Amino acid sequence: MTKKITIAIDGFSSTGKSTLAKQLAKHLGYIYVDTGAMYRAVTFFAMKQGYINADAFDSTTLIASLPSIRLHFEFNAELGFAEVFLNDVNVETEIRTIEVSRFVSKVAEVSQVRAKLVEQQKEMGKNKAIVMDGRDIGTVVFPDAELKIFMTASASTRAQRRYDELVAKGDAVTYEEVLKNVEERDYIDTHREDSPLVMAVDAIEIDNSHLNREEQFAQVLEMVNDITKTI
Ligand code: DC
Repeated sequence: MTKKITIAIDGFSSTGKSTLAKQLAKHLGYIYVDTGAMYRAVTFFAMKQGYINADAFDSTTLIASLPSIRLHFEFNAELGFAEVFLNDVNVETEIRTIEVSRFVSKVAEVSQVRAKLVEQQKEMGKNKAIVMDGRDIGTVVFPDAELKIFMTASASTRAQRRYDELVAKGDAVTYEEVLKNVEERDYIDTHREDSPLVMAVDAIEIDNSHLNREEQFAQVLEMVNDITKTI
């Protein structure tokens, strides 16, 4: 029987982490967890409750409300991935808007939010056979993961991808607005005090500015096969 491993995929926003993670999980029959969706769902909750808006962020009240936030994933066979539920309501669509993207880095800076989500993420991965993507998976959530990938691409490449996705969904955004959001999130994600986005020392970096999906998938699958052969 092939050994099951833990695969941690970290990197900047819109580097195609989730596309790769989903492809790998499907191919290997592993669970896929998008941890960005968890931070987004908490952000959506905070927005709905009025704890965060363009002018203010009441992190104290959000922290006090954390026990009332329950997140879980349910696999959607039609989509081929698990959707995120906030207190039993599917919020997969609501969490992908540019408004949520605007506030999510602020919410992800709060240590108590991180502690709650990291605990749940560790629990989800305790039996291995998991592909998890985020910012701190190889450094904090699964420091012992057998395979750690760190994905990068230029800010303009990433903004163009994100812009195309939002426009395809019918969102009225400009490329400049998306690029600004990508750059702002990069800055906050890499400069926050708790678990900043850094490449784990034992991670393998993939710059996918000029790689297509298939090339990237083939590269990583080869790494997985090499590892599972040797353990
Ligand atoms: O992957 P994403 O763009 O959907 O993530 C949304 C935000 O959540 C991102 O700006 C940083 C934060 N995040 C984090 O701090 N730690 C994670 N493990 C995943 C996401």
